[in-house]
Amino acid sequence: MELIICKNEEEVTRQTANVIIKDIILDPKITLGLATGSSPIGVYEKLVKAYQSGLISFKDVETFNLDEYIGIDRSHPQSYYSFMNQHLFNHIDINKENIHLPRNHGGDLEDLANEYSLMIEQSEIELQLLGIGSNGHIGFNEPGTPFRNETFIVELDEQTRNDNARFFSSLEEVPKFAITMGIKNIMRAKKIVVLAFGENKSDAVYKMIHGNITNELPASILQLHPNCTVIIDEAAASKLNK
Ligand code: GLP
Repeated sequence: MELIICKNEEEVTRQTANVIIKDIILDPKITLGLATGSSPIGVYEKLVKAYQSGLISFKDVETFNLDEYIGIDRSHPQSYYSFMNQHLFNHIDINKENIHLPRNHGGDLEDLANEYSLMIEQSEIELQLLGIGSNGHIGFNEPGTPFRNETFIVELDEQTRNDNARFFSSLEEVPKFAITMGIKNIMRAKKIVVLAFGENKSDAVYKMIHGNITNELPASILQLHPNCTVIIDEAAASKLNK
């Protein structure tokens, strides 16, 4: 794992965006794995700016999102589909056919999950962007999830639902289930960039980097990835030297 500790959130965002911008410049047909949550919002802002300034184009870029809630419609403002449109896709020249998010309805969910894994395998993700949950989840791979899982249906942890309740009007409204890429899908990406900031991520970040490799802390598997860069601020890094 390569570790980059930045002064603050803005610097984490800038450095993370720069990795993606560089990779798009070098390979305009790149396949990206994208994340949601609050952490990557600033990164997407910077990608939009880089597009608007003419530095990059998404015309031939293909994207796969990590996960989607089950039980809310794509049109719901808190669906990850809406999130991605709001923060990235509506502002760039990406071909809508090249955008992929796990489908949460319109068929048997297991079948939809298997189809998604197959699509990912065929396209091969070159750069996977990841945030990390305060319980160490990546995508929605909650503690206890077998590392060998491919895209699957997950029951969300109480901690995750509580963390994400800030985006909904009440905890009851937070979906209880989601469809997520499995660890196996994530680990197949050629390159992974994890970003995190803030004190509330410091424990998960410590365990991801220095803890035992265990599915109780799903992000710990990233220690075994041959090309994984962790970009964090000083607050998220605060437990690393103790
Ligand atoms: C969410 C997403 C993850 C994200 C994580 C952290 O539930 N499924 O992909 O990395 O939790 O979110 P945030 O960046 O808002 O802290």
